[in-house]
Amino acid sequence: MSTRSDQVIDLPVPTARPAGAKPLSAADVLGIPALPPGAVARGGTRIRAAVSRTADQLAMPPVQILEGIFGLLDHRVLVALCEAGVPEALDRPMTCDELAADLGVDPDRLNRIVRYAIAKRWLRLDRQNRVRPTPFTKFLHHDHPGGWRAWVEFAAGDEVIRAVGALSAEATDEDGFERVNGSPFFEWMESHPARWSVFDAAMAAGGRMHGLALASTLKWPSAPTICDVGGGTGDLLAVLLDRFPAATGMVFDLPDVVARAVDHERLVATAGDAFVAVPKGFDTYLLVNVLHDWSDEDSLTILGNVADALPADGRVIVVDSEQQRVPRDTLGVGADILMAALTSGGRERSVRDFERLGQQCGLRLVKAHRLVSGDRAYELTRATNGTGS
Ligand SMILES: C[S@@+](CC[C@H](N)C(=O)[O-])C[C@H]1O[C@@H](n2cnc3c(N)ncnc32)[C@H](O)[C@@H]1O
Repeated sequence: MSTRSDQVIDLPVPTARPAGAKPLSAADVLGIPALPPGAVARGGTRIRAAVSRTADQLAMPPVQILEGIFGLLDHRVLVALCEAGVPEALDRPMTCDELAADLGVDPDRLNRIVRYAIAKRWLRLDRQNRVRPTPFTKFLHHDHPGGWRAWVEFAAGDEVIRAVGALSAEATDEDGFERVNGSPFFEWMESHPARWSVFDAAMAAGGRMHGLALASTLKWPSAPTICDVGGGTGDLLAVLLDRFPAATGMVFDLPDVVARAVDHERLVATAGDAFVAVPKGFDTYLLVNVLHDWSDEDSLTILGNVADALPADGRVIVVDSEQQRVPRDTLGVGADILMAALTSGGRERSVRDFERLGQQCGLRLVKAHRLVSGDRAYELTRATNGTGS
């Protein structure tokens, strides 16, 4: 259980966002002209899984073993490319030597790293032996509006590498992250502010994607009031507020996080502890990628506090990856294993799990919407059939 006991503190309302800040589009955040419905995105995931299955059947088992081991290098090569500044420097087709000269790095070493990236189809090699940028490298540019580069930087942190390196099939009550880093994830972040900002930025990238997906997938009233619980720096909420001009919202998170919240004229940032209480009076409460950080017991405390704050006709939207019977979505299983490495009891859950958790908090699961990200948005309202409190 959480040991936090801070009371809810109100921070000043942030000043208006810079005039002219352009609302983010699907192209900015996902690299596609428009968001497809969740079911279409799911079809795409299934097709990719089927194609990969066929490709794997063509590989001999030892090749598959070695490819699995070399997966270890994927992340490191990605980090090395970003550290060297390849996404920024590669703004036109260039030979590897030209790229190395621009970056001031060793041409042979860069060539080997670039060749790995070409084999992974992250970069392209043209007929003139020039390396070409791809949408993938554009998205890794540190100025890209989607902000996905922060994920590479977050996953490159020693604390993450230590925790992932310690992952095993041994089930233990111990918090794996705490065992190798000395304190549980969010406490560790509190004492490492630079790393916490990187984590926030990585969360913000996913948050922008979820903001667009929730705006287009759910039905919204004309002037929704939204509280994003554990909403990080408010980037998701800002996307929703941009989309619905009469909407107002509050991002509710730990003090150090809301201190870094985005400026938006209709967004209030409030610091507090969702294990203690959640502000009342909003018609929509969001818990996006929050419950998957926690055990069932902790999730019930958070969800219970949200249920206590919920007006009679309000709704709670929980977004997490879905634990599927047949695990086809590699992002979903990846998120689940990451939670196993970084948290104590955090996990991805099934639709039934959310039905059960909701019931235990007096909430009824109305619908499990599919999102373009592959995640689910679980829409819960107060139970009216007497099953809840
Ligand atoms: C995995 S992040 C998700 C952030 C955001 N919802 C998103 O999807 O981008 C979990 C968030 O929960 C916040 N958090 C952790 N413990 C909390 C607590 N006790 N009360 C409120 N927020 C908390 C973290 O600071 C972090 O912003």
